Amino acid sequence: DETKEGVKGLVDAKIAEVPRIFHVPQASLTEKKPSVSVSDLEIPIIDFASVHVDTASREAVVEKVKYAAEKWGFFQVINHGVPLKVLEEIQDGVRRFHEEDPEVKKEYFTRDNANKKFVYNSNFDLYSSSPSVNWRDTFTCYLAPFPPSPEELPVTCRDAVFEYSKHVMSLGGLLCELFSEALGLESEILKSKGCLKGLSMLCHYYPPCPQPDLTLGVSKHSDNSFLTVLLQDNIGGLQILHQDSWVDVAPLPGALVINVGDFLQLITNDKFVSLEHRVLANRQGPRISIACFFSSSKHANSTVYGPMKELVSEENPPKYRDITIKEYTEGYFKKGLDGTSHLLNFR
Ligand code: SIN
Ligand code: FE2
Repeated sequence: DETKEGVKGLVDAKIAEVPRIFHVPQASLTEKKPSVSVSDLEIPIIDFASVHVDTASREAVVEKVKYAAEKWGFFQVINHGVPLKVLEEIQDGVRRFHEEDPEVKKEYFTRDNANKKFVYNSNFDLYSSSPSVNWRDTFTCYLAPFPPSPEELPVTCRDAVFEYSKHVMSLGGLLCELFSEALGLESEILKSKGCLKGLSMLCHYYPPCPQPDLTLGVSKHSDNSFLTVLLQDNIGGLQILHQDSWVDVAPLPGALVINVGDFLQLITNDKFVSLEHRVLANRQGPRISIACFFSSSKHANSTVYGPMKELVSEENPPKYRDITIKEYTEGYFKKGLDGTSHLLNFR
């Protein structure tokens, strides 16, 4: 029953030391040395203001998206079209749920996400092969292809989740077009492959940590998605593994962080890269972040994905075998966040 109060429950109980199960192994600790953290490198920032102005300005944006997707796998977008107020309201809603009376939160606690549209827990991979667990709690809303009815979401965040998801959906549409164009293909191709079918919203709460050097907010991983739209607050701590260095994704007020997920790397045959990333634990907090995963529908388990035929040739043969969503997803959850890339298993 303890775990139902999450990491926040430990902090509320005023523990002074981080329990052993949260301690990251020595090998990942050395990766935390500041010497490998490169703060003068900055991930690309792309302004979407001009995408609908004329062909030339759109092409200029597509060029930037292409560079970012190939070289970084991550970029920040400004003028993305989601109103500031909507961003503030979803962050407030996420905070309200996590700071709700534990008795209320417990009603939503489950480790079985098969039939639920709203799932609250801590460390989805608690019982997998991950070497340690993370200093954060999460609730997830499964929003597409079958949206929840209002009663399935707690009142603390219901309106904010629906409102934000509407905007993220339309941004997802634009991103898919720009990514398609960046591949030199027609705008609708990624949509037609099902990249926007499923939408899950992962709402994270990283409580302040008394011994941040011993643990992580989230361990190194790459995303189980085609693409991810992330909203982070101003605390910081997100880092990406770029050319063997940990590079900070510095909070940029009003911006959204976009990253390529494993499935986009798979179907583009490694043209676009799904980079590993992590979040440091912090004495300051809570840190709130909202990650929207566009993926194939979790109900489309038998759908097969492999490198797109449009992107392979004799000179550039497929680097991956075809895999079903089911095979990929089951493996991802069984493995947990153990620090290795799941995609490599299909090469
Ligand atoms: C994640 O990648 O799991 C979360 C990223 C974040 O909280 O910034
Ligand atoms: Fe992630």
